[in-house]
Amino acid sequence: QQPVRIAPSILSADFARLGEEIRALEAAGADYIHIDVMDGHFVPNITVGPMVVKALRPHTRLTFDVHLMISPVDPMLDAFAEAGADILTVHPEAGPHVHRTIQRIKALGLRAGASLNPGTPAKMLDYILEELDLVLVMSVNPGFGGQSFIDSQLRKIEALRKSIDKTGKTIDLEVDGGIDAVTATRAIAAGADVLVAGTATFKGGDYAANIARLRGN
Ligand code: DX5
Ligand code: ZN
Repeated sequence: QQPVRIAPSILSADFARLGEEIRALEAAGADYIHIDVMDGHFVPNITVGPMVVKALRPHTRLTFDVHLMISPVDPMLDAFAEAGADILTVHPEAGPHVHRTIQRIKALGLRAGASLNPGTPAKMLDYILEELDLVLVMSVNPGFGGQSFIDSQLRKIEALRKSIDKTGKTIDLEVDGGIDAVTATRAIAAGADVLVAGTATFKGGDYAANIARLRGN
């Protein structure tokens, strides 16, 4: 388990001032910038695409952790790589050949992640885990910020912690959805080392204090 890193989700940012918001998150001590890409098909909401990622790229040197909730996902990988993504995370349900998708992301020179919906079992990753740089456990059903953490996902985090440790490789174990100071502590205890937080980062406007609180400070 690596040191805890905080990945604010810009889903809760002011979309009219995204560049400024990202600079503020960097100044506030964020580790990754989590960018939620939704297509209105794989999930019931629409957000941003590669053009917005590209426009944001000059605003920070932080890792762009791009969470792709789109299907089919393969035709869009190159565009997100060109736009400046650092990590591309896909859902195994978003295409028929997740192993090939992961290989493609790595061939593009990016870090590859796989994400599990609340109803998707950890064993879905059994045959690709060693290929991954990041595993993303969804602790809400993807599509919207501000939902409540689903407790059953803690068991999945624990199971994945064990599988990741067994590989002996450095693989981020990231949790996304309903993370606040309380659920952050529980997710870290279960083995998570990257926390995505939208609502909890932006709430009240003091991003630095909010991020420090999520880290356990
Ligand atoms: C949900 C997204 C999350 C979301 C988290 O589909 O993947 O990244 O922004 O928002 P909060 O932290 O508000 O639950
Ligand atoms: Zn996300």
